[in-house]
Amino acid sequence: MSPQSNDITVTRLTGSIGAEVRGVDLARDDGGDAFAAIHRAFVDHSVLVFREQSLTPDALVAVSERFGPLEQHVLKQFALPENPDVFVVSNVKEKGKPKGAVRAGQYWHSDCSYMARPTLASLLHALEIPSYGGDTMFASMAAAYEALSATMQGFLDGLTAVHDYTHAYETFFSKFPDRPPLTEEEKAKVPPVEHPLVRVHPESGRKALFVNPGFTRSVVGLSEAESRALLDFLFDHARQPDFIYRHRWAPGDLVIWDNRATWHLAIADYDMDEPRHLYRTSVAGDRPIRPAERTGRAA
Ligand code: OGA
Ligand code: MN
Repeated sequence: MSPQSNDITVTRLTGSIGAEVRGVDLARDDGGDAFAAIHRAFVDHSVLVFREQSLTPDALVAVSERFGPLEQHVLKQFALPENPDVFVVSNVKEKGKPKGAVRAGQYWHSDCSYMARPTLASLLHALEIPSYGGDTMFASMAAAYEALSATMQGFLDGLTAVHDYTHAYETFFSKFPDRPPLTEEEKAKVPPVEHPLVRVHPESGRKALFVNPGFTRSVVGLSEAESRALLDFLFDHARQPDFIYRHRWAPGDLVIWDNRATWHLAIADYDMDEPRHLYRTSVAGDRPIRPAERTGRAA
């Protein structure tokens, strides 16, 4: 065994979500022998924090690919020109043009839940961070599901919800002139999709809520009023402090999260004149599994 796999430590950050991993330099061997322990911790804790990393775009891609093949975001203009697997989250402007997506994720969401195969994992590496604010919050949708009554769980297990990227534009981005609307070509790539409202994690077997305020439009088979009331109840329930880890960024941080079991939210409380600049990669995911599929019962 290499010294790295002996030295690696995993420390939980809250009672429900998140762990900090120490003793690994991801640029040196992109996880190397330590990767099995890192992967186990990722499944167990849903969010992993690595401090003081220094990753070039290629090194970030190499680390990310340990978790699976990568995918590129529908918004191609925010990809790094020299490395399109890297998506730039940034408020920095060059010649008046933003260098990356401004206002990315400033609502609770699970990345690309509006795709037929939503993103499995996202990795975010901080390069520049404002002097205050700009934290990211993560919420455990497994803990949120487990805190519901068995009767409510049973009801939710059989439901299906509609996810749609244009929902975020209608409810959020349209308020901000610095975020251009989706083009017709982009819209054509992201038609509304249906997903189980509760999904089973293929690796842990844990169930998690799979609806989110950013992208979930409605619940199939309910009236509009029923759907709105149920989603609002679930959204209020799921963002309780007990289910949340709040990450205070420092340059060099790498955070990876499991979109199959979490939400996240970028807090927009920083001074927009101070740079906030991060690189993100996305690990491609699978079709969400319904509880009934897992137990072998007919849906
Ligand atoms: C993302 C995202 C959050 C942040 O990159 O998927 O939502 O804090 N970013 O920048
Ligand atoms: Mn996001």
